[in-house]
Amino acid sequence: MHFHATMGENFKMMVKTMFGLENVLAKELQQLGAQNVQTGNRIVHFVGDKGFMYKANLSLRTALKILKPIYSVSVRNEAELYQAFVDFPWENYMREDQTFAFDSVVYGSTFTNSMFVSQKVKDALVDRFRKRTRQRPDVDRHYPDFRFHLHIDDQQCSLSIDTSGDSLHKRGYRNLTNIAPINEVLAAGMLQLAGWKGDTDFLDPMCGSGTLLIEAAMLAARIPAQLHRKVFAFEHWPDWEPELFGKIREAQLNKAVNPSVAITGFDKAPSAVRKAQENIKQAALEDFIRIERKNFFHSEKSRDAKLFLMTNPPYGTRLEGDIESLYRQMGDTFKQQYLNTDAWVISSNLEALKFLGLRPKQKIRLYNGKLETRLAHFPIYSGTKKLHKQTPKP
Ligand SMILES: C[S@@+](CC[C@H](N)C(=O)[O-])C[C@H]1O[C@@H](n2cnc3c(N)ncnc32)[C@H](O)[C@@H]1O
Repeated sequence: MHFHATMGENFKMMVKTMFGLENVLAKELQQLGAQNVQTGNRIVHFVGDKGFMYKANLSLRTALKILKPIYSVSVRNEAELYQAFVDFPWENYMREDQTFAFDSVVYGSTFTNSMFVSQKVKDALVDRFRKRTRQRPDVDRHYPDFRFHLHIDDQQCSLSIDTSGDSLHKRGYRNLTNIAPINEVLAAGMLQLAGWKGDTDFLDPMCGSGTLLIEAAMLAARIPAQLHRKVFAFEHWPDWEPELFGKIREAQLNKAVNPSVAITGFDKAPSAVRKAQENIKQAALEDFIRIERKNFFHSEKSRDAKLFLMTNPPYGTRLEGDIESLYRQMGDTFKQQYLNTDAWVISSNLEALKFLGLRPKQKIRLYNGKLETRLAHFPIYSGTKKLHKQTPKP
């Protein structure tokens, strides 16, 4: 069996990410030691070896998937497409007793139906194996050993192999979700865009299932993002080196530090508090994150020192009560009870954000699933307070 790459041999890879996180991902890649890092649209290209592929899958916080390009060919029609993929040495990548799946995207006018293209290339793969071994690999749409990505831009076909498997936002710590949980990759991206470094106290006053808190703690503690994940696609590959992976995992873990700041979450819903606590336990972060069942509007800042606050409040897209009053109260609480705070709020409800009554210093466009949102920065200084009614401290 031909191995994909021997240790030390560099090859091209590309990482898929979300809109607006490309530069954060590029920085993460550079910090990990990637070469030739180049950003595109929801994608970042880089070069690294097999060990780096393991490290990137284990550690990147804003990666959805890492793909390895393996074949590039130009075809003019269906017959050429089929032949090009019968000629491709699939046996260098997988065995006939393993399962596979295809994801295809097509642009341009040569091919118009991605399902049809996937079917043709699948037939080519199966026919090649059948001819050589009299056996054929089976398709498994949900948990394939190998997931191939086919990208066709008019006549140009690029085939990549998915090195990650399930999307990398599936960190392995979140089994329970509450209403409208935020994606882990988005949470990690928001924190890095906001410059969270783990050197001040952190509060998510409407924490739901605790995603922002867990990602903030993992960033502060420099814990690899995928530490709790069970499996990566490359573990099914013929060149899988568990010892190499073990060494890389250990080296990454040795960089972890104990965060010395308080990381706290509030939620007024008991079910959210329970779920957040369970997820924090799964992430083994009970010693670093405290959850309180509390209404944010009845709380106040516990220390004079600078606080970093980030939250994903209800957007008012479901039955979430009076959104105007919720955002007004949030703004009042910031101004009256949370001086010396860097507050960051993500919302798709741009009208509601205005009810905070604060001027954003910065607004960053991001997508929470299909919803276009703004991550808005509201620095709350004592000057902010003067403009508004003060509540005396008890
Ligand atoms: C969109 S969810 C947050 C989801 C969270 N980021 C996650 O990943 O699971 C909003 C949360 O705000 C909470 N909430 C709404 N008003 C609140 C208040 N006044 N004080 C505390 N929590 C509140 C809700 O109970 C809900 O769990």
